Amino acid sequence: MRRWRTLLAILAAVVTAATMSPSPAAASDPVTPYVVGGTRAAQGEFPWMVRLSMGCGGALYSPTLVLTAAHCVSRTGANTSITATLGVVDLQSSSRITRRSNYVYRAPGYNGNGDDWAFVRLASPVTGIATLPIVTSTAYDSGTFTIAGWGAASEGGSQQRYLLKATVPFVSDATCNSSAMYGGDVIAAEEICAGYTSGGVDTCQGDSGGPMFRQGASGWVQVGIVSWGDGCARPNKPGVYTQVSYFSAAIRSAATSLGG
Ligand code: ARG
Repeated sequence: MRRWRTLLAILAAVVTAATMSPSPAAASDPVTPYVVGGTRAAQGEFPWMVRLSMGCGGALYSPTLVLTAAHCVSRTGANTSITATLGVVDLQSSSRITRRSNYVYRAPGYNGNGDDWAFVRLASPVTGIATLPIVTSTAYDSGTFTIAGWGAASEGGSQQRYLLKATVPFVSDATCNSSAMYGGDVIAAEEICAGYTSGGVDTCQGDSGGPMFRQGASGWVQVGIVSWGDGCARPNKPGVYTQVSYFSAAIRSAATSLGG
């Protein structure tokens, strides 16, 4: 009797999980539990994920540098107003690590269109947390990407306490700039698109600045920075990401000038 009840409970859980399992088509479903087709990341899965207090994401590039989006910061210069939270998927966790910023470097030439990358420098280094290397060529600018963040779980939704993740396929510049999609608004050389034609899986407000990454020759590499999109997870509106490969030399030299 007890065993049957256990079995029934397990069956019910499996059925519930199957029903709730996110799929691209589930995005418009109001009960979709997680960001735009995502699921919860496991503690330690993406150790370099950073939450920034202005409501953006970032990736730990070095023990003192967080790579984020230019549109998340106001200008280059001394800045002690940003708090970075790291080392946890649960932003409320008592084991979270926090650091104050001491400097912001915004991509030179940023004017709201392209050049969407920036560094936030931490007042003291973070130790014992893996960093995310950036790509230095276009070799990984295709395939399937992973996205993650604490941003809205649906268009117009609230910020998340737990880190969510999803995978999205590469979308070519030609397709992304076609009249069916962004009709020429994507800066092909500087930006890289990812998402499903049917929508349903995407980054969203509050994920900006966070990394888009994939497996490289020896582990994860950062291919993109969450930048913009028309709404979130809409059909024919893929997410648009800063194409890290295009800026890798500039990012590297900025990091050096900031002390590594
Ligand atoms: N600009 C947004 C932010 O500041 C991110 C938008 C990403 N949108 C998308 N549909 N992928 O958080």
